[in-house]
Amino acid sequence: MSLSAVERQPDAVSERRVELSVVIPTFKERGNVAELVARLDCTLAGVAWEAVFVDDNSPDGTADAVKAIACRDPRIRCLRRVGRRGLAGACIEGMLSSSATYLAVMDADLQHDETVLPAMLATLRSGKYDLVAATRYVEGGSAQSFSEGRSKISRIATRLTRRVLGTSLSDPMSGFFMMRRDAFDAMADRLSPVGFKILLDIATASEGLRIVEQPYTFGERQEGESKFNIQIGLEFLGLLLAKLTHGLVEPRFIFFAVVGALGIAVNLAVLNVAMLVWPVSFMMAKSVATFFAMTSNFLLNNSLTYRDRRLRGWGMLRGFIGFRVIGTIGAVTDVGLASQLYADREVWWVAGFAGALMGVLWNYAMSSMFIWRTR
Ligand code: GDD
Ligand code: MN
Repeated sequence: MSLSAVERQPDAVSERRVELSVVIPTFKERGNVAELVARLDCTLAGVAWEAVFVDDNSPDGTADAVKAIACRDPRIRCLRRVGRRGLAGACIEGMLSSSATYLAVMDADLQHDETVLPAMLATLRSGKYDLVAATRYVEGGSAQSFSEGRSKISRIATRLTRRVLGTSLSDPMSGFFMMRRDAFDAMADRLSPVGFKILLDIATASEGLRIVEQPYTFGERQEGESKFNIQIGLEFLGLLLAKLTHGLVEPRFIFFAVVGALGIAVNLAVLNVAMLVWPVSFMMAKSVATFFAMTSNFLLNNSLTYRDRRLRGWGMLRGFIGFRVIGTIGAVTDVGLASQLYADREVWWVAGFAGALMGVLWNYAMSSMFIWRTR
């Protein structure tokens, strides 16, 4: 074999070296892909870049649309994930797949103004910063295209986050940023794949990260629709809680707690109705109410809190029985602790609250360990 092919390799390799990977999470963005690639091509002329689309098996065939372009353009890659959903997780996996010097993350829907990418890249190249966060809320940036309601939510969440986490980011909820890959690789195993708020997670995952902001104008969505919903809002609260407690409380606990609170409402509502049916037997009515609440709690936890470990078929029946057993022990613990505290101090609400908290923590820990465990 001649050695010349091997000898030539270093050159050929260095020519193909990618400086910037643009990671683009997609879910049902078929109509936006081609336009975004065209815009990147235009904006990043002269830069050795690639785009990694991370698609969660969108039913509209987004992955096919990306692969059709990738067939013609080697700078385009598609990472199709099956059996998983979630913006942050998609971003993390896309970033992990890169060996470029710098990583950018941006939305596929053309709301993130790609024309600020060269400025962000120049900032990183200077070596003075590890991360550039594109932000809507500083001089020069704006988010006019959010609806009134969404805009308010976004601002409240931003203020809350800055207060709670003490982050100086003016737009910690942004999903648009660029960073050094070595910095990302060093923290990757500490990031949470849950939720929307990848930048927030990254910015708070490592102390000494040198961060600077880049203002931009948040654009209008052209095709498709936003995937933001109440569940994502809750996931965000969960992430805040996890950060606040330094990882002691998992992000998913917030779902468990909300489901539990809903369970109390279900319990009371059913009790109200059941007392009309069995006006004489409070015990009967209360049993029915508790059964309903436990069932709805189980179903909600199965499809929300632990949706990534959802039980099906017989597993669901087995899980339900286990959930009831755990719940019963939890209730006994709750009553036991509350009674003891009440006997000591006689402040009913402190005793009641401590008991209930103990019960919820017990139920959560046991459910995570035995009912919806990772397989
Ligand atoms: N792979 C994958 N999986 N991608 C997803 C998923 C998912 O489960 N959910 C959303 N995406 C993609 C969308 O296809 C889009 O490219 C991007 O993530 C942002 O989703 P949108 O649905 O457009 O979010 P938005 O415009 O409402 O939210 C914007 O504001 C948030 C802060 O309030 C975005 O800029 C977010 O990045 C930002 O966090
Ligand atoms: Mn969007």
